[in-house]
Amino acid sequence: MRYLLFASICALAFSGPILFQDSDLVAPQEMIDEINRVQDSWTASSDWVGNMTVAEAKQRVAPTIGSQKFSNNDWGELLNYLSFPATFDSRQQWPNCIHPIQNDSDCHAGWAFAAADSLSDRFCIASNGTVNNELSAAFIVLCSLASPSCIEGTTDSAWNFLKQFGIPKASCTPLSLIGSSQCPSLCHPLAPFTLFKVKKIYTFQGQPEIQAGILTGGPVEVNMEVYQDFLTYKGGVYKHTTGKLIGYTSVKVIGWGNQNGTNYWIAANAWGTSWGLQGYFWIAFGQCKFDVEAIAGNPDYKAQ
Ligand SMILES: *[C@@H]1O[C@H](CO)[C@@H](O)[C@H](O)[C@H]1NC(C)=O
Ligand SMILES: *[C@@H]1O[C@H](CO)[C@@H](O)[C@H](O)[C@H]1NC(C)=O
Ligand SMILES: *[C@@H]1O[C@H](CO)[C@@H](O)[C@H](O)[C@H]1NC(C)=O
Ligand SMILES: *[C@@H]1O[C@H](CO)[C@@H](O)[C@H](O)[C@H]1NC(C)=O
Repeated sequence: MRYLLFASICALAFSGPILFQDSDLVAPQEMIDEINRVQDSWTASSDWVGNMTVAEAKQRVAPTIGSQKFSNNDWGELLNYLSFPATFDSRQQWPNCIHPIQNDSDCHAGWAFAAADSLSDRFCIASNGTVNNELSAAFIVLCSLASPSCIEGTTDSAWNFLKQFGIPKASCTPLSLIGSSQCPSLCHPLAPFTLFKVKKIYTFQGQPEIQAGILTGGPVEVNMEVYQDFLTYKGGVYKHTTGKLIGYTSVKVIGWGNQNGTNYWIAANAWGTSWGLQGYFWIAFGQCKFDVEAIAGNPDYKAQ
């Protein structure tokens, strides 16, 4: 009880309104030191976040969480028969199919990056490695909305687009086109314009379904809350420790593990390889609305 009281006083010290002006640093050194002092589940660092302000941090995330409107995957009795391993990592299960960490650089469209990235992996897994391409998140940004936008899409709009239209390889529609181009109908540079589509969209509600979804088809996309301290994550099992909510993002979940009795998800962010564990992170089950719902689709690979 005394510890709890102490912890909440610490949290108050860093979440008061005075610290949350747009011009303030989103993760001042005192916050980083405090995180590393009050808990030992995860490590905070200034390496990636540097002197980022609250205003800059808010531009890296979405202001609202994507709606959750697809019908539930009908697992029936499958869940009773699937026994989940204590740990699972798609990178070990499908070594050649998990594509590199994305860097959303100036287009913070986690909703599109995690969708394209999950679908790239799922094509490879479903085709046993015969359809192995990095697919274009930029094409989702340029073509799925009424006009190109990094910030206006959602997980739902991304997967709907993958089902209705599909996306080409990343090399066909590079990220550099964002900001200078409308929706392209040819590859840049010229190459066959093949679209990779989704056959059926599934949602997975809650932790066991999300695990079943990854085991049976590969990585899935989730929405999550982003607090100030998440930007400082450098390793270990993340649990929200201090700081305010700055928005939401979407990430690719590739598995789960256990550290000293704490179950955690293994996920890929799209903030480049200098953030977190070479771009990946571990987050405890139940944190930041992470395991409320996941979304993914079955690749339509026979159509290629
Ligand atoms: C942050 O700002 C301080 C003070 O202006 C400066 O000394 C430091 O080099 C900056 N750090 C980074 C990572 O830019
Ligand atoms: C999948 O690919 C591997 C390696 O190329 C091969 O050994 C295996 O037989 C394939 N499995 C199926 C079901 O095609
Ligand atoms: C796990 O528990 C052991 C024994 O209590 C401890 O020495 C170690 O530091 C813990 N590891 C982490 C990552 O918390
Ligand atoms: C990510 O992209 C940004 C902006 O282009 C760049 O500054 C940064 O170095 C990149 N990070 C990695 C790890 O590639």
